[in-house]
Amino acid sequence: MSVTVRFVSAKGDQVSEVVAEAGARLLDVAQADGQPLEGTCEGQMACSTCHVIVDAADFPKLPRASEEEEDMLDLAAGVSRTSRLACQIWLEGKLTSLTVRIPSEARNMQGR
Ligand code: FES
Repeated sequence: MSVTVRFVSAKGDQVSEVVAEAGARLLDVAQADGQPLEGTCEGQMACSTCHVIVDAADFPKLPRASEEEEDMLDLAAGVSRTSRLACQIWLEGKLTSLTVRIPSEARNMQGR
């Protein structure tokens, strides 16, 4: 089983499609593809640099975020309703494809 993952760039103008093994962790798949997700704490839910915005249609397919993950997301820049931490998403279950957008930190840091 494999899962097709699409990474959409912050501006939405670039899409990278990769085929990942079922059971892989989204953060690892993203980093292997060269996506700009630092994942500084390597999945300890202590940094939120692995924040991604999940496609609204795919979001309900994922298991719910834990309370720790929600707390961490509260601190991330540019969070949206479908934000998740890539280190907490495993490509498993009935998932066959997943689309996520990389948040634009530069834009968020400049405020609005
Ligand atoms: S890698 Fe730090 S919270 Fe995901």
